[in-house]
Amino acid sequence: MPVSRMALWQTVERNRNMNITYNEKNRIFKLDTPNTSYCIGVVDEENFLGHVYYGRLLGSDDLAYLMRTGEPPFVPSENNRDRTSFLDTFPMEYTGHNLGDYREGAFSVRTMGGHTGVSLSYVSHRIYDGKEALDGLPATFGGNDECKTLDIVCEDSILKLQVVLSYSIFADTDAIARSVKVINNGGDAIYLTKVLSACMDMDNADYEMITLHGSWARERAIQTCPIRKGKQSVGSVRGESSHQEHPFMAWKSRTVTEEAGDVYAMNFVYSGNFIAQIEESQFGSIRAMMGIHPEDFCWKLEPGERFQAPEVICVYSAKGLGGMTRNFHELYRNHLIRGIYKDKKRPILINNWEATYFDFDTDKLLDIARQASALGIEMLVMDDGWFGHRNDDNSSLGDWFVNESKIKGGLKYLVDEVNKLGMKFGIWVEPEMISPDSDLYREHPDWAIQIPGRVGSLARNQYVLDLTRKEVRDCVYDRIAAVLRSANIEYVKWDMNRQLSDLGSLGLPADRQGELVHRQTLALYEMQERLITDFPNLLLENCSGGGARFDPGMLYYSPQIWCSDDADAIERLSIQAGTALVYPLSTMGAHVSDCPNHTVGRTTPFETRGYVALAGTFGYELDVTKIPEADRNRIPEQVAMYHKYNDLVRQGDYYRIAHYADNHFYDCYAVVAKDQSEALVTYVQVLGRPNVHSRRICIPGLDSEKTYVIENAADWPEIRQTAYRGDTLHYAGIHVPPISGDFKARIMHLKEK
Ligand code: DGJ
Repeated sequence: MPVSRMALWQTVERNRNMNITYNEKNRIFKLDTPNTSYCIGVVDEENFLGHVYYGRLLGSDDLAYLMRTGEPPFVPSENNRDRTSFLDTFPMEYTGHNLGDYREGAFSVRTMGGHTGVSLSYVSHRIYDGKEALDGLPATFGGNDECKTLDIVCEDSILKLQVVLSYSIFADTDAIARSVKVINNGGDAIYLTKVLSACMDMDNADYEMITLHGSWARERAIQTCPIRKGKQSVGSVRGESSHQEHPFMAWKSRTVTEEAGDVYAMNFVYSGNFIAQIEESQFGSIRAMMGIHPEDFCWKLEPGERFQAPEVICVYSAKGLGGMTRNFHELYRNHLIRGIYKDKKRPILINNWEATYFDFDTDKLLDIARQASALGIEMLVMDDGWFGHRNDDNSSLGDWFVNESKIKGGLKYLVDEVNKLGMKFGIWVEPEMISPDSDLYREHPDWAIQIPGRVGSLARNQYVLDLTRKEVRDCVYDRIAAVLRSANIEYVKWDMNRQLSDLGSLGLPADRQGELVHRQTLALYEMQERLITDFPNLLLENCSGGGARFDPGMLYYSPQIWCSDDADAIERLSIQAGTALVYPLSTMGAHVSDCPNHTVGRTTPFETRGYVALAGTFGYELDVTKIPEADRNRIPEQVAMYHKYNDLVRQGDYYRIAHYADNHFYDCYAVVAKDQSEALVTYVQVLGRPNVHSRRICIPGLDSEKTYVIENAADWPEIRQTAYRGDTLHYAGIHVPPISGDFKARIMHLKEK
């Protein structure tokens, strides 16, 4: 087939997997992804938008009967005396405020007259191929043959306020990207006091809510709770997505498994304050909402201005939690991550943070680099402490000038020497911060976020720079860009080690102080966009005191994010399982660190640390000149292991098999190649137990008809049979023998015969 006809055929084939229609007769919008349908209805006369259906793919849009308009006494046109009853129960697609819907809403305003009533009705719509970028915000993307978009224009005719609800669907993934744009067509300014990005009303089918929680060094532990009457929410008002709670929630039927059952989920493509909430109403319906946290948020919209709220990704999976996970992974790998490393293996790095902390100089770094390069490690990353006069965490943030009393001979000399060893060089920065002990602060004390007249609250002895001011952004960016241009720097770790407080900007007028946190997040995005545009070959890794800003917003700029400051292999099982619930393994910054582990003091075998880090980007966080020789001698083997399996780990389908946080003894997961030709199973026996049977493990995702052999059978001497059919591995499973000792891990490589 000629290439152009082939391309056309592929386009047609792919488009068959997605469709958006509007049926003028029954006034139903229907969005079809490969396996799901999402339906919105328009209520006659008042033109309210109602949520009708989200679930398995349907063949028909004949669903107007599901709109809860005809349930006396709740019919607005027939029974206006009970209008609030209607508004308070109708499953709204996106809410107004203060006119009778007493459930918490997604949108609220304050007029110049001080009033807060707002009501949105359908006006028009547009369906088009492709997806438009969101102004200044990270967002999923795709070509005209890869996605389709529905924009529904709603209006409050009294306020002359337009609200555009956007829905994009993808031909290759069961996901819907939703966002909201507000346009002030009125003659007066208006304050937006809440603009959430997605709202979904549906009946509660005895659902449970899944959220991710944690703290520094304990990020993203999975929590599951029944949904009860009233509101349950997670959120952050810390100016970042945070260690503590995560901009993700799912709700699922109680009986759901990894492979079957209904799961709904929302994930926010945003890195600032957020709220994710489910409210169960008096009639047992639930309202799920996600968006920018309304606390301290107030955006003044002048006549003619628009406000763009960030994007929420909605997923429905009938194939259980595993199906949900793989939808997110697929979407983010194909339609969110950008740049030259999007589909590429990342260099194995060694980072000097846990090796030296602030106590390093050129000689020490070169010693590490020499030893590391001889072992096959491919990049040296110089962490915190190379600038100003920073020898601990009390000074110099903002003074982005190389400290030549530590980096003797200058940065270019160091980088050239590292390059001569055949290694790349990377550097750490923390652009959003300012130390009180810095020349920058002495010159510009007004550049810190602060409330006039109050002594600012320090965290790690630093303040946050007010990046809403262009002169601040430009100054910091130019200083860092000059460092990056001064030598062959191929990687940047962008850190952020404190959360926002003392919300006040000396650059904003009184009636715009409520814009600060969102503007700060937009400023961060603007700076990172500038960075990856000016340095397109750079590998950017985001980080925030470990994993406090591991979110889809940051993934738009960096293909990987440091997961946690806790690199202990056992703690990482939970951290990585929670992270991989939503994010692809290719994005999880994971390193082999020294023992006893610096965070928990635990000693685990070097192999185990390697196997656990293999599930992420893979690197080292130790002084390779000082670790035991036996460990050092294992590094070439681990390097070879990374090169052998990383394509599979990065690109394959991830399956959870058993989770240590649930069973307290072992962890097991698999990555299966897209063409089902191979799989890598990782098994970690956390605690050894006396006198136990072997454990049966079922390995899903394989081709039932194919036969697989254990390619590394020598590592599993206890297993005598080495060839199995895919369906046998999936449904009957294999027996994993008990391994003597704690914290022991092994991998099994299954290859199609
Ligand atoms: C927090 C990061 O997570 C660490 O890896 C390290 O870069 C320190 N900050 C440096 O201050």
